[in-house]
Amino acid sequence: MSKYILPVSVIGTVIGVSVLLRDHVTGGACPSKAKIKGKTVVITGANTGIGKETARDLAKRGGRIIMGCRDEEKCEAAAREIRSDTCNHHVYARRLDLASVASIREFVSRVNQEEERVDILINNAGVMRCPAWRTENGFEMQFGVNHLGHFLLTNLLLDKLKSSAPSRIINLSSLAHVVGEMDFDDLNWEKKKYDTKKAYCQSKLANVLFTRELAGRLQGTGVTVNALHPGVVATDLGRHTGMHQSQFSSTILDLQTTPPYWTIPH
Ligand SMILES: NC(=O)c1ccc[n+]([C@@H]2O[C@H](COP(=O)([O-])OP(=O)(O)OC[C@H]3O[C@@H](n4cnc5c(N)ncnc54)[C@H](OP(=O)(O)O)[C@@H]3O)[C@@H](O)[C@H]2O)c1
Repeated sequence: MSKYILPVSVIGTVIGVSVLLRDHVTGGACPSKAKIKGKTVVITGANTGIGKETARDLAKRGGRIIMGCRDEEKCEAAAREIRSDTCNHHVYARRLDLASVASIREFVSRVNQEEERVDILINNAGVMRCPAWRTENGFEMQFGVNHLGHFLLTNLLLDKLKSSAPSRIINLSSLAHVVGEMDFDDLNWEKKKYDTKKAYCQSKLANVLFTRELAGRLQGTGVTVNALHPGVVATDLGRHTGMHQSQFSSTILDLQTTPPYWTIPH
């Protein structure tokens, strides 16, 4: 019997530590039962991952949801699924490619025409560690989509957000911002060798810096601005990394991540 004590206690410890670690990195579910009937939410990158689950949760709470996605078919499929799942028919798919200034302007022009108000803007869309791609306007892709695209979108929607106050802007950053460095002499990766990881961290730091600056500028307007790290969530975000191609790392990832249920604190 005694020969089993050591292996059993080692296995028990490993399982215990895994559960604690998982709770630590994923956070918990939001216990709020708040309803948001009468409020309009604009959310980017809502066809999959955290964005889709956020849209679903807010639709369940009665909000009018505008999903901004670059692929219209995927967007409409997700919107249809959410409408049928939540019995909320006010869930709309709209084209928005954050790698295109023209697309952002078109999206905002439609929102301004069709929506009386925007109470919540969730800048969720993101791309992580893609190759050295450029946006339609020549910006490095991760900085261009994660920061610049949302920067333009937010500024173009600002009048609507102000006239709907109290309203809020929520920027999805990442813990990765902690190791991010802003290279103001070469934000666009033209003078140095491209580093996919550093480019992602820089873009996520830019989300935090933008949030802080905008929050200060909007004081007294009734529009609040916050940034967050969503925890470690099992989504498609790692599609450009080796993590999702390796069976070993995806198994470890699945053990340590949570499915993308996620709710906004009210
Ligand atoms: N998952 C995590 O553990 C984690 C951790 C820290 C931070 N985050 C942040 O959380 C946010 C959501 O990520 P996720 O994990 O849900 O990733 P995801 O499953 O890959 O979803 C990302 C979304 O962004 C969209 N997107 C990418 N490029 C776009 C563009 N040019 N225009 C419009 N939409 C675009 C994607 O559209 P397509 O489907 O068409 O590509 C997709 O809908 C990101 O900002 C990410 O940095 C996630």
